[in-house]
Amino acid sequence: MSKTAIVELEGKKYEFPLIEGSENEIAIDISKLRDLSGAITMDPGYKNSGVCKSDITFLDGEEGILRYRGYSIEELADKGNFLEVSYLVIFGELPTKEQLAKFQNDINKYTLVNEEMKDIIDGFPRTAHPMGVLSCMTGALTAFNPKVVNVENEKEMYDAVCKTMGKFMVIATWTYRKSAGFPLNYYDNTKGYVENFLHLMFELPTGPYSANPVVVDALDKLFILHADHEQNCSTSTVRMVGSSHAGLFASISAGVSALWGPLHGGANQAVLEMLEAIQKDGGDADKYLAKAKDKDDPFRLMGFGHRVYKNFDPRARIIKKAADEVLRELGVDDPILQIAKKLEEAALVDDYFVSRKLYPNVDFYSGIIYRALGIPTDMFTVLFAIGRLPGWIAQWKEMRINKEPIGRPRQIYTGHPLRSFVEMEKR
Ligand code: SDX
Repeated sequence: MSKTAIVELEGKKYEFPLIEGSENEIAIDISKLRDLSGAITMDPGYKNSGVCKSDITFLDGEEGILRYRGYSIEELADKGNFLEVSYLVIFGELPTKEQLAKFQNDINKYTLVNEEMKDIIDGFPRTAHPMGVLSCMTGALTAFNPKVVNVENEKEMYDAVCKTMGKFMVIATWTYRKSAGFPLNYYDNTKGYVENFLHLMFELPTGPYSANPVVVDALDKLFILHADHEQNCSTSTVRMVGSSHAGLFASISAGVSALWGPLHGGANQAVLEMLEAIQKDGGDADKYLAKAKDKDDPFRLMGFGHRVYKNFDPRARIIKKAADEVLRELGVDDPILQIAKKLEEAALVDDYFVSRKLYPNVDFYSGIIYRALGIPTDMFTVLFAIGRLPGWIAQWKEMRINKEPIGRPRQIYTGHPLRSFVEMEKR
């Protein structure tokens, strides 16, 4: 097979090398295109454009495949735990028992958040959306940890990783505690990482809190399923911001803001709000499918469709199974789940969705489990961020270690040609 691609432009031919990945993906290396031809490419939303080579995650949207560092998401969700998978995603290998224990201990060194950060969160109204608070608080961490800005060597990088894993979850749960009017909890280094999430969220001074093991296991699996997803919107944002050598906290703060959007991570909250609206309106799934198909109706079937998966999102398959199990184990009979299943069954045979290859994505069922676990709806995307944190860290680390250039896309100008200034009295 030829190892080059030919572009013919205005009668001239230009030859570009091909890049082949370890899973036989092919890219045309156009890094010399403008120098050679004066032309650029145009690809809104980067649907066909690769920005980097990466060893972290492989996904095949046609086959519904997702792997972290070569391990299938099915095996990792079934056999691994979130801290172990975080280590794998960030450092590239499954940790030995000793490596995992050291990682947890090194994270525990940084789980105390500077007390003055409480003055910052106190400045927010209780009605502020947790994702906006989390983005701001994450950026504010830089003020108290300046060494996490320009990591110059492997040790500084490792410390930055552990600081981020240690502090992000704490401030993430503070966004809920603040909105609920509860005192802000401290991480408990005697508990596990995911168990701490529940302790930080729900422990009250009025009495001890013991996490339900079923809930811990369900959250651990959900966090694993969200850990990374190659160059999605928020991860690309983290890489873009980090490419200017802005620090890790600042880059992740930008990623939190990108994830907040309802077309991206905010979809898990939007799915629940959609299902509740359908339930309130009598539970007529067909009526809402018709709205989703109506070009004049802005309504979209949240939790459906994906930029890459044109087959079932493998995470949605796992989460759907977990939803049944968790609700049964917790003895929760949520009519919302039945509405979700009715929507899914109807959409999967409806030509509008089938022809556009729109299937349930990771966000379609996750909110149903979060609700059964007692998580408030406006915290769903914060949980997505906690799960995605190791992926953001891993991708930022890879971009910095590979010394990738600052991101700066081009454009095609379509505005006015040169024109002269017009004095005020002549306008
Ligand atoms: C995540 O990228 C990632 O990896 C993201 C993520 C991760 O782990 O990081 O997987 C997490 O963000 C999952 C996606 C969550 N978002 C939603 O569930 C929101 C609802 N879905 C969409 O808005 C949409 O499907 C996107 C944004 C997810 C994908 O949009 P694309 O790839 O840009 O596709 P498109 O908007 O161009 O749609 C193609 C067609 C259009 O119809 P036509 O113009 O061809 O007639 O499909 C239609 C769209 O109108 N369409 C939908 C639809 N999604 C697409 N119609 C109704 N309901 C929907 N949900």
